[in-house]
Amino acid sequence: MHTATAVAHPNIALCKYWGKRDAALNLPSTPSLSLTLAPFRTRTTVTWGAESDRIVFNGVENTALEGRKILGALDRLATLTGLGRPPCVVETENDFPTAAGLASSASGFAALVLAADAASKAGLSPEALAVLARRGSGSATRSLQGGWVEWSMGEAPDGSDSFGRAIAPADHWDVRMLVVLVRSGPKEIGSTQGMNHTMETSPYYPAWVEQAPADVVEARGAIIGRDLERLGRVTERSALRMHASMLAADPAVIYWKPETLTALEVVREARRAGIAGWATMDAGPNVKVLCAAADAPSLALRLTTAGLTAQVLTPGGPARVVG
Ligand code: DP6
Repeated sequence: MHTATAVAHPNIALCKYWGKRDAALNLPSTPSLSLTLAPFRTRTTVTWGAESDRIVFNGVENTALEGRKILGALDRLATLTGLGRPPCVVETENDFPTAAGLASSASGFAALVLAADAASKAGLSPEALAVLARRGSGSATRSLQGGWVEWSMGEAPDGSDSFGRAIAPADHWDVRMLVVLVRSGPKEIGSTQGMNHTMETSPYYPAWVEQAPADVVEARGAIIGRDLERLGRVTERSALRMHASMLAADPAVIYWKPETLTALEVVREARRAGIAGWATMDAGPNVKVLCAAADAPSLALRLTTAGLTAQVLTPGGPARVVG
């Protein structure tokens, strides 16, 4: 029996992943690009060799879908090493709301594969671990890396070259991401289900796929050149176009709540007043606002004046084994 613990930060996509070209391998229809964010984090302990399989999620035994997906990731790791998998205990906790569009599955699977690799003494390469994380949840392949991360689509039929790669470390650029928590409960439609339904029924989906790669090129250039205006514009438009593809699905997938639009309006008004921030929304009603470090306090004040809450996040480091 061996035990290991790993921590990982969530990431927020600036250029979104929304749709799969291969569901079995979990390969994306588009490239995507994200920022890993501290101090939010997931902490996961894996015991490799126990009496029976157990998943404990924020202190509560879990037998639902997430539990099966977690065991699936452990099975894949065991298959890669050619060794059998003993019963395992996985204890995982988030210090931020789970499944509310704050990328908890991203930090979750990133911490899981690192802890499982260490506990099983599998010694997989960083690339193999990044692919393993992707199979658990696509966005997780970006949370293994710190800072600014690009997940390329890859070309290999087996998906072995489709994973997150750092394009710049966390300390490359001292920006801020404000999190406006509109709802903290789990979302009504999971991201996998939401993106599959969009792919199947939205006439706007092909347009989404077609324009996404150019946005990633634009965002990468903006990050390397530290051009916040350029990055902000592409960030907001990527999110709005992703949501536009869902709004055109049949029936529509609508993650937004009234406060989501209030936050968007505050951000757009602040911009008109010369305080630069750009909004992004994922598979949930919460809003994240990218801005310069110096503008974070005044943007946060505008959001709280409008009756919202705002938490300030900073670029975070890579996932790591801590014990
Ligand atoms: C809207 O990574 O949760 O947050 O691969 O099906 O587990 P699965 O999806 P997931 O989707 C994330 C979607 C998003 C955008 C993004 O993070 O790029």
